[in-house]
Amino acid sequence: MVKVCVLLFLLSVTVSRDVAQQKSWTIGMSQCNLGEPWRVQMNSDIKKAAERFPQLNVVFKDAQNDNLRQSAHVEEFIRAKVDLIIISPKEAAPLTKPVAEAYRKGIPVIVLDRRVLGQEYTCFIGADNKKIGRAAGTWIVQATNGEGNVVELKGLMTSTPGQDRHSGFRDGIRGSNMKIVFEADMKWLEPNARKEMESALARFKKIDVVYAHNDPGAHGAYLAAKAAGRVKQMLFVGIDALPHEGQMYVRQGILSASFEYPTGGKEAIDAALSILQGKSVPKEITLRSRVFTKENLDKGGEWLDE
Ligand code: FRU
Repeated sequence: MVKVCVLLFLLSVTVSRDVAQQKSWTIGMSQCNLGEPWRVQMNSDIKKAAERFPQLNVVFKDAQNDNLRQSAHVEEFIRAKVDLIIISPKEAAPLTKPVAEAYRKGIPVIVLDRRVLGQEYTCFIGADNKKIGRAAGTWIVQATNGEGNVVELKGLMTSTPGQDRHSGFRDGIRGSNMKIVFEADMKWLEPNARKEMESALARFKKIDVVYAHNDPGAHGAYLAAKAAGRVKQMLFVGIDALPHEGQMYVRQGILSASFEYPTGGKEAIDAALSILQGKSVPKEITLRSRVFTKENLDKGGEWLDE
């Protein structure tokens, strides 16, 4: 009897020590907005990836496209002493300071998709937007024999993907006879893109291609051109290629091409776990991207050249 009691006692000590030793971590995730399907997808990718690890608890916050609100999130996370922060920032400049502050206080920060300025963060994860923009440019040059009038509907130009998708695109069409007749910042939003496209249609009789920095923008432009009875004369090209958005538009013949912009949600959780376990991660993790067209859709798209 005594032996059994001693055994049970030892067993319970071992079990409680193991439970105590099994660390659990809280990750604060600040999403710039949840009004766009791509961001809803990112959060769900993060959630799904984190569910594989019972020791991770992710607290999500939605900044509703407001830099001040997003800065406040980071400050709240610092005060709450979370173990790690993931942020997908709205704009680079206003979010740089709070991210640097967390980083300096020893809280690891993973920056996802849009960048902040400088180097005061632990790891940046995202696809190469310059390369995507360049690939969109060369794709359009090929599809049009290098001639035609282009409308460029830009993403928020104070966010880094907007800047890179613009400069990459200009590189991609360099040397061709493509002419940008109209460009406007539609701030990533479909209703803005539709309005800007209405202005472009009113001003230019001949528009051959619409290049939009994201699929909602390309879709907004398509709706404007459709209402004006002019879709047949144009190609529409977008970026993101979510299965139920860009890829679906390509299948429906609304877009001619959509370039994938992976959310990085799974990669962020993998990196977070490594950091929390004390392993080192690269400062920069670059995600690959594919182009989807009607021809390659069923084969799962085509990877952009390395
Ligand atoms: C969503 C979004 C995507 C785009 C990304 C760039 O907010 O506009 O459509 O690819 O942000 O950061």
